[in-house]
Amino acid sequence: MSISYNEQERSFRLDTPGSTYLINLVDEEGFLCHAYYGRRIPDDTMRYLLRLGPDQRPFRDSGQQVGLFDALPMEYPGHGLGDFRESCLSLETEEGHRVCGLTYVSHRIYGGKPALPGLPATYGGEEDCATLELRCRDRFLGLEVCLLYTAFEKLDVICRSARIENRGERPVTLTAALSACLDMDNRDFDLITLHGSWAYERMIQRRPLGWGKQGVSSLRGISSHQEQPFLALAERAATQEHGQVYAMHLVYSGNFLAQAEMSQQGLLRAVIGIHPQDFAWRLAPGESFQTPEAVLAYSHTGLDGMTHALHDLYRNHLTRGPWRDKPRPSLVNNWEATYFDFDTEKLLDIARTAAGRGIEMLVLDDGWFGRRNTDDNSLGDWFVNEKKLPGGLKYLADEVNKLGMKFGLWVEPEMVSPDSELYRAHPDYALQIPGRPPMLSRTQLVLDFSRQEVRDCIYDQLHKVLSEANIAYIKWDMNRALTDVGGACLPPEQQGELLHRYVLGVYELQERLLRDFPDLLLENCASGGGRFDPGMLYYSPQIWTSDNTDAIDRLRIQEGTALLYPLSTMGAHVAACPSHTNGRVTPFATRGLVSLPGCFGYELDLTKLTEEELAMIPGQLENYRKVGPVFHSGDYYRLASYGENGEYDALMAVSKDRKTAVIDYVHVMSRQRRRDVLLPLRGLDETTRYRSGETGEIRSGAGWMYGGMLLPRMEVDFLGKLIVLEAV
Ligand code: DGJ
Repeated sequence: MSISYNEQERSFRLDTPGSTYLINLVDEEGFLCHAYYGRRIPDDTMRYLLRLGPDQRPFRDSGQQVGLFDALPMEYPGHGLGDFRESCLSLETEEGHRVCGLTYVSHRIYGGKPALPGLPATYGGEEDCATLELRCRDRFLGLEVCLLYTAFEKLDVICRSARIENRGERPVTLTAALSACLDMDNRDFDLITLHGSWAYERMIQRRPLGWGKQGVSSLRGISSHQEQPFLALAERAATQEHGQVYAMHLVYSGNFLAQAEMSQQGLLRAVIGIHPQDFAWRLAPGESFQTPEAVLAYSHTGLDGMTHALHDLYRNHLTRGPWRDKPRPSLVNNWEATYFDFDTEKLLDIARTAAGRGIEMLVLDDGWFGRRNTDDNSLGDWFVNEKKLPGGLKYLADEVNKLGMKFGLWVEPEMVSPDSELYRAHPDYALQIPGRPPMLSRTQLVLDFSRQEVRDCIYDQLHKVLSEANIAYIKWDMNRALTDVGGACLPPEQQGELLHRYVLGVYELQERLLRDFPDLLLENCASGGGRFDPGMLYYSPQIWTSDNTDAIDRLRIQEGTALLYPLSTMGAHVAACPSHTNGRVTPFATRGLVSLPGCFGYELDLTKLTEEELAMIPGQLENYRKVGPVFHSGDYYRLASYGENGEYDALMAVSKDRKTAVIDYVHVMSRQRRRDVLLPLRGLDETTRYRSGETGEIRSGAGWMYGGMLLPRMEVDFLGKLIVLEAV
């Protein structure tokens, strides 16, 4: 078991292959102090790091409680008792008091990992992980908190969450319930976050950690295009391969806060969880509140170590269902091909062209339902528009199936258009505040998914659609942020629960869908990558990465995404050209190269391609079949970033048995240069000899890695190469 309790030292140790995490109980009252997290060590206690001298006792009979409290590393800090840094737990009592603090009650250690009711979470059996439940309480409030820690046996990952239980006799309102806190000394850290906007999601940002609070957050009701629920603290000297990195990532899809705070004397506190702003959860006696899960990853092998731990965790212990480990079907999506302007014949033309080239699925995007020919109506009316699609989805799906292809469908279940039958019948189903006209975005409103009857109404419609035609795949879209957050069915004192209840409602509906249609392949989407987070991955093994389908912009978007997420989770399509995003013209072959590592597809009118382009499709699909599994289940290496070097981009994946490696290289922008680019590879076995499928050269893994690979020189911008190395 990778977790143990040392009674003499009153310390808990959690071990993963390369890391140790130590908690100390301090003083008779049992304050939960965080003693150590970092490279694996044999010691059971590192209490000296708490800086408590032999005669320094923080509590009760000490004259200096407040001063000590403000510098003590804590596991789950409360509020208003002398620790003036960010609190994980804050609340308001009926009397309006806000003070709380936790001390130890009991603990339990066991193999495996419990599910978190209603929430997405990583999973693992007894052979995969062990869990520590640390029960603590505020003895003046009758409030108990169960801190959950799971240490994985084969991954340098510890997952944390908290369950807050009101065991008192009076209600309290939680005003902050974060998921995890990490207190430590600053070691000249950089803060790494992913920043973005619509169509430019997840750009890597690295900056020196400064004094005070800094971090990222979302108040949009979704995890957002703008920020990712993630932060990493990397030693200033840490590189892709070397140095210590601590990461925190939240398994959640709504508002979040991920914050690092450097206070006096270089004390560092990193926290992650639901954003306390716009959050207030009333906890009646006997009720409990479960926080989302935070993933903590530690690496002493630079960013690669962090990336590999997260990729393996998300592939093997977060995504679920029959599609988890299967090759994902190549697809053609009609959005950029037709937008709203399609009918059955047009779609079948595309499908026929696709089938003839070996594409496995047709996905019908927005515009098939209600009266929808523009984006300002019909959301909420999930019945087919027979004017556009005579014979309905069944006829279309059957015809597509006859071509040997699967059929997939787009929906946007969380939304309602004011111009819809649903809204006319049930205006109160939309989030809004009485007397205040709600803000529109894309001419649509957000349904109050915290309400069971609203979810049921949408679900019944979806269930019917899915039962009437052979639909193998659903793209679940979500195209606006939440505003006017008022719920018709919650009393005033519970309105602060609405944003979290909304997210729980989305999870509940996706879970129901998967339960009733277990073979369904679900792909989440939110105006592109506006809700690309670990929470959604629990339901859909792939997510549409971005509405930006330009191959060159995609290099950076996918690079940032792959810092945390396996390539198998990223929807990536060869799209129309000139790019609908930015007008850029890139070769068809390069668009294929950029999409290949992800869940590969096409998003353009195949019937308008040249013969030469059409002829490339079978080869691209053949590559997807051959090397797709290496990208999807191997170890990913970010070799070169054109965002950093301004010239070329390269990524690499190495199969787990280290027998095959694939290098995906795109030359972006010519510079004055005469020599071929030298690219040191990574992840190969030093002594194995590998043959390059490109040049036939045979070299040892060590040679390819430490000598490097000369990349073929490109005479023209926007060209690339796929190079496969096979062990000989
Ligand atoms: C936003 C998505 O990201 C696009 O792929 C497309 O499905 C549109 N919505 C349809 O409205």
